[in-house]
Amino acid sequence: MLLNLLFILCTLFSSPLLAFASKPEAYALLNWKTNLMNQNNPLLSSWSLDPTRVNRSMSTAPCTWYGVHCNDHGDVVKLNLSDSRLNGTLKSFNFSSFASLTRLQLRLNDISGSIPLEIHHLSKLVFLDLSGNRFSGTIPQEIGMLTNLETLSLHSNILEGHIPVSLRNLSTLSYLRVDDNNLSGSIPQELGNLDSLVTVNMSFNFLTGHIPSGLGNLTKLSELYLYLNNLTGSIPPSFGNLSSLKILYLYMNKLSGRIPNELGNMKYLSQLLLGHNQLTGSVPSSLGNLSRLKMLG
Ligand SMILES: *[C@@H]1O[C@H](CO)[C@@H](O)[C@H](O)[C@H]1NC(C)=O
Ligand SMILES: *[C@@H]1O[C@H](CO)[C@@H](O)[C@H](O)[C@H]1NC(C)=O
Ligand SMILES: *[C@@H]1O[C@H](CO)[C@@H](O)[C@H](O)[C@H]1NC(C)=O
Ligand SMILES: *[C@@H]1O[C@H](CO)[C@@H](O)[C@H](O)[C@H]1NC(C)=O
Ligand SMILES: *[C@@H]1O[C@H](CO)[C@@H](O)[C@H](O)[C@H]1NC(C)=O
Ligand SMILES: *[C@@H]1O[C@H](CO)[C@@H](O)[C@H](O)[C@H]1NC(C)=O
Ligand SMILES: *[C@@H]1O[C@H](CO)[C@@H](O)[C@H](O)[C@H]1NC(C)=O
Ligand SMILES: *[C@@H]1O[C@H](CO)[C@@H](O)[C@H](O)[C@H]1NC(C)=O
Ligand SMILES: *[C@@H]1O[C@H](CO)[C@@H](O)[C@H](O)[C@H]1NC(C)=O
Ligand SMILES: *[C@@H]1O[C@H](CO)[C@@H](O)[C@H](O)[C@H]1NC(C)=O
Ligand SMILES: *[C@@H]1O[C@H](CO)[C@@H](O)[C@H](O)[C@H]1NC(C)=O
Repeated sequence: MLLNLLFILCTLFSSPLLAFASKPEAYALLNWKTNLMNQNNPLLSSWSLDPTRVNRSMSTAPCTWYGVHCNDHGDVVKLNLSDSRLNGTLKSFNFSSFASLTRLQLRLNDISGSIPLEIHHLSKLVFLDLSGNRFSGTIPQEIGMLTNLETLSLHSNILEGHIPVSLRNLSTLSYLRVDDNNLSGSIPQELGNLDSLVTVNMSFNFLTGHIPSGLGNLTKLSELYLYLNNLTGSIPPSFGNLSSLKILYLYMNKLSGRIPNELGNMKYLSQLLLGHNQLTGSVPSSLGNLSRLKMLG
């Protein structure tokens, strides 16, 4: 009888607690929540280990919490907290607790402060979207250690400083957006190594210097947006090698020289915007070969 009671007590209380003990992710999320400005955010009400508020399925915490997705082993693999009215910083976010995380989506919140360099602990990360917040400071060079990244979206923040050369490490990166920030300095030549890139948007910053000719090596590149910066020098003739390029926006910079004939080799090009620069000479006749070209300005 006593043994039975003990058994029931154990199943009722101990087993969920044991389950929590193996879930550092749950503690890490709760600790972060406690440090948010609006910790009473109703969207995060499921983020709790309080037995009076959560039912027995709480043994699966944090896998049943809002925005949290786990694999079959109960490890957190995705955190989608996009557009969730989060207000605070990532200072108290324990990145070391999320060894299995592949997707971190925090877009469209009110998160400020810097992007912690500890983000490099998310070594399995494939998808990182921090866009549409108020992140400031520089892009940590430790982002270059996230070598599984395929998507990196840091746009629409107030990030400043240079685009880190360490991004050259991200050989699987296909989608890169750092547009609409306060970034300065030049575009690293090393980005020409990232031959998985399909979409690159660096527009609406304060970038200076020449467009690196190495970008002409990106044979999968389909869309390149560099408009609204202070880029100087000429359009690299190597761009003629961008055999997959469909969209090229270079307008509103300080580009000079002639439009290279080689651009006529970009057979998939459908939109080419070069206006508001200091380009000289006429439009090369080779562009007449671009049968898909719909927009030229
Ligand atoms: C208990 O939790 C499960 C999983 O989150 C949920 O589907 C169910 O509706 C909850 N039950 C109650 C009574 O809250
Ligand atoms: C992420 O969350 C947002 C907002 O709740 C939702 O619109 C979007 O579909 C989600 N995306 C994924 C991949 O789950
Ligand atoms: C976020 O919190 C700060 C400080 O409490 C406040 O000034 C700001 O208005 C909040 N933002 C939103 C969108 O609620
Ligand atoms: C962060 O998480 C790791 C792994 O779960 C843990 O060892 C460490 O103590 C935590 N750090 C803090 C400050 O809580
Ligand atoms: C590049 O990635 C390797 C791991 O693959 C890492 O050791 C190195 O620190 C990274 N370099 C930079 C500059 O981030
Ligand atoms: C590129 O960046 C600009 C400025 O942030 C934005 O308005 C535009 O929608 C972006 N386009 C793509 C395809 O990323
Ligand atoms: C970003 O640039 C804008 C001007 O476009 C300026 O008003 C703002 O102070 C800058 N912010 C930071 C954090 O540098
Ligand atoms: C470009 O540089 C000029 C000064 O040379 C400055 O006034 C302007 O704000 C800069 N524009 C951008 C988009 O960086
Ligand atoms: C671009 O490709 C050429 C020829 O394959 C190579 O010599 C050059 O180093 C490459 N540039 C970059 C930045 O990858
Ligand atoms: C284009 O690529 C070819 C072959 O990879 C290379 O020989 C040539 O130099 C490149 N053209 C330019 C203008 O970079
Ligand atoms: C247009 O393409 C044809 C066939 O590839 C080529 O012979 C011709 O020289 C090109 N015209 C121009 C002006 O580049």
